[in-house]
Amino acid sequence: MLKVGFLGGGKMAQALAKGFIRTGLSKGEMMLASCLPNDTGSIETFKEMKSNTVFTNAPVIDHGDVLILSVKPQVVPKVLPEFKIQDNKKLLISIAMGISLASLEKALPKGTPVIRVMPNTPALVGCGATVFARGKNASDKDAEITEKLFSAVGLCEEVPENFIDPVTALASSGPAYIYMIIEAMADGGVKMGLPRPIAYKLAAQTVLGAGTMVRDTNIHPAQLKDDVTSPAGCTIAGIHQLEKCGLRSAIINAVEAATLRCREVNSQA
Ligand SMILES: NC(=O)c1ccc[n+]([C@@H]2O[C@H](COP(=O)([O-])OP(=O)(O)OC[C@H]3O[C@@H](n4cnc5c(N)ncnc54)[C@H](OP(=O)(O)O)[C@@H]3O)[C@@H](O)[C@H]2O)c1
Repeated sequence: MLKVGFLGGGKMAQALAKGFIRTGLSKGEMMLASCLPNDTGSIETFKEMKSNTVFTNAPVIDHGDVLILSVKPQVVPKVLPEFKIQDNKKLLISIAMGISLASLEKALPKGTPVIRVMPNTPALVGCGATVFARGKNASDKDAEITEKLFSAVGLCEEVPENFIDPVTALASSGPAYIYMIIEAMADGGVKMGLPRPIAYKLAAQTVLGAGTMVRDTNIHPAQLKDDVTSPAGCTIAGIHQLEKCGLRSAIINAVEAATLRCREVNSQA
C-alpha cells in the first residue's frame, strides 16, 4: 500500500483518492491532502474517506511516498518552490493541465523524478482514461507505480509527451462533451414525450453501450453505425439531421480548440 500525498485536494484528487481506496492500492488513513481553509467541501470529502487534510503543502511533501500535484495549473508555480533538495527522491506525479515535464523539472530540486499524467474524472467510477509520460529522472519503477495507480482506476497507457495536450482535449475534457450529448439526447426524448428520469437513464446507458461496443469488439465505429442504419429507417433520418447540423465538425473543432488552449497554458507557465 502506498502513502499518497495530494498537493491540492480538489475534484480530481478526490476522484483518484476514492479510486485508490476502492481498488486497495491505498487506505484513507495513508493519504494526506492539502486544501485551502475555505474549501470545506473538499475537507469534508477527505474526512469521509478517513484521510487527513492540512492547509499547507509542506506536510504533504513530507508524508507521501508518491506525491500527486493536483492544483490548478496557475497555482503550480506557487507550490513547486516548497520542494526542498532532500525531497528529490520522491516521485512527483503531476496531473496539471498544460504544464510540461521540462517546466516542472526546472522548478523542482535537481534529480526529482517526475511523471506527467493526464487522467479524467471517470476514474471515480473505475472507468478513467489516463496517459502518462515520464521525465528524465523517472525510472522504470516510477513508471510501473504510475501505471499501477492509474490502471486501478481505468485504462492507463504510456505515451510520448507531445500526445498529452491532444489527449487532454479528447479524454480529459471529453466527459464534458459527452455529458452535453447525454443531456441533449434526453431533451430530445423529453420533447417527444418521454419522462425525464427514463430519458436520462436511457441516454447514459446508450453512450455506455456504444462506447463498450467500440472498445470491446474492435469493429470500426463507421461499421457499427452502418449496422444499425437500415434503408429508409428512422436512424438514417436522425443521422441526416446530425450531419446537417455539423455534429462531426463541432466535435473536431472542440478537440482542436481545447488542444490549442492547453498549448497556450503551457506557453504561459
Ligand atoms: N477535472 C478534470 O477533469 C481534470 C482532468 C485532468 C487533469 N486535471 C487537472 O487536475 C488539476 C486539478 O483540477 P481539479 O478539476 O481537481 O480542480 P479543483 O477542483 O479546483 O482542485 C484544485 C484544488 O487545489 C486547491 N488549491 C488552490 N491553491 C492551493 C494551494 N496553494 N495549495 C494547495 N491547494 C490549493 C483548490 O482550492 P480552492 O478551490 O479553494 O481554490 C482546489 O481544491 C488541474 O491542474 C487540472 O488541470 C483535471
